[in-house]
Amino acid sequence: MRRGGLSVNGRRTIALAGIILAGAASVSAADDLSAVATLGKQMFFDASLSASGAMSCAFCHTPANHYGPEPGIVVEQGGPGMDQPGFRTVPSLAYKSLTPTFTIGPENATSEAAEAIPMQVAETSDVVPFSATSAMAKLVAANQAPTTAKTGNTSGNMVARGGMFWDGRSQTLQDQASGPLLASFEMANTDIPALATRIRASYGKPLGQLFGDQILSDDRMTVDEAAYALARFQVEDPSFHPFSSKYDAYLAGKATLSAQEAQGLKLFEDPKKGNCAACHLDKPDATGKPPLFTDFEFEALAVPRNPAIPANADPAYHDLGLCGPLRTDATLAVNCGLFKTPTLRNVATRSVFFHNGVYTKLADTVRFYVLRDTQSDRIYPKAADGTVLAYNDLPAAYRGNIDRVDAPLDRHPGDPPALTDAEVDDIVAFLNTLTDGWHP
Ligand code: HEC
Ligand code: HEC
Repeated sequence: MRRGGLSVNGRRTIALAGIILAGAASVSAADDLSAVATLGKQMFFDASLSASGAMSCAFCHTPANHYGPEPGIVVEQGGPGMDQPGFRTVPSLAYKSLTPTFTIGPENATSEAAEAIPMQVAETSDVVPFSATSAMAKLVAANQAPTTAKTGNTSGNMVARGGMFWDGRSQTLQDQASGPLLASFEMANTDIPALATRIRASYGKPLGQLFGDQILSDDRMTVDEAAYALARFQVEDPSFHPFSSKYDAYLAGKATLSAQEAQGLKLFEDPKKGNCAACHLDKPDATGKPPLFTDFEFEALAVPRNPAIPANADPAYHDLGLCGPLRTDATLAVNCGLFKTPTLRNVATRSVFFHNGVYTKLADTVRFYVLRDTQSDRIYPKAADGTVLAYNDLPAAYRGNIDRVDAPLDRHPGDPPALTDAEVDDIVAFLNTLTDGWHP
């Protein structure tokens, strides 16, 4: 691991090296990366960029856990004193460089076809790039039907797709990087000038060499170039997109699924059973690129409220995803309760599931889909009088947004669940084939 003579002080260099060594051998050697990405890599592991001096990107996005959280963490604690709890579970950063930018556009044949080809989506003519100030985007959002079902295909059905975070509020990896550096409950730099000062202290020299010394006299540019370096690390380092799961080997004809895994795959795809592949795409795209297990679209699944999130102690607090509170530019009611469909690659290595981490077992997460409306008493808590508090994390005003059309979420109370417990286990066995680093 080459450190390129950066002015990281002695103590921190030792800590930095320790993290990398303890992290994962799979993070590639610096020599494979461009100079910018190498700098981004150092920043990624550098806790001195945080107000506490204790929190790097890797603190929450652990390389050994596919850049996801340490086991058992529902929300991380950050801030200057490392005691400010976050609001959402830490996503894995693997495969995130392949996320299309945030758009709102029609759900039609063109976008369905484009769905399988990330990064080209923003270029299809009928998809409107979203901008906070664009009246056009608001108009488009206003036409969005409450339930944008894949099966509905009503012309004029508008769907939100892509972007970074559970609510898509950042367009790209570069836009995203200043988010955690500035968030009061994460790395907690107070503002852009404070952050720029901190970046210059450790990285002024290499940043000047790479981008020209003039960027150092502009706080915004200093932060932007540091964010660019962080993004380049995630784009270039193969450890962020290894495509080395058993399922990748199976698609390449180099592995055979066990009987249970194969049965799980069948159920995952069957529109009358799991129907999971309708949103978590599992086939190579038109150009032959392996699937990312997400169509990047936003849905309101109405997962149960998680009392383990400190903010939820306030009954008036609701995380409404696309419509806020962390995102502030898509506040129309039709957007409330919608979250981005995550990749399922490496999902079996997670210990908390969904944006609020309400489930700690993968089987329970899968079971949610088939029991939500058929046996809601097994999903949601009950009031003192025994009434089931269905959809208890979404205010009544927004419950029209809940996806009740896509199977298996289309069933009614008393209907048989679309999957038996044994079939849920089969799907879990299949999901286990999506973990990278598989060896025959
Ligand atoms: C305190 C823990 C914490 C730290 C430190 C942190 N993150 Fe995150 N990261 C999160 C959480 C939580 C989310 C999801 C937040 C949301 O959706 O609102 C997230 C989301 C992301 C995403 C978007 C992923 C997706 O699924 O869309 C990227 C990319 C990312 N972080 C990169 C970084 C980088 C780069 C750094 C360092 C500059 C960093 N993170 C530091 C907790 C953290
Ligand atoms: C209508 C689209 C849709 C369908 C169908 C669907 N999902 Fe999802 N999935 C989502 C969305 C959206 C989320 C995130 C929801 C949230 O956090 O509020 C998600 C989240 C998940 C997660 C949690 C991942 C994580 O990182 O926390 C798992 C596991 C999962 N889905 C598995 C499945 C399985 C298995 C099926 C089939 C039984 C399925 N999904 C069907 C849209 C869908």
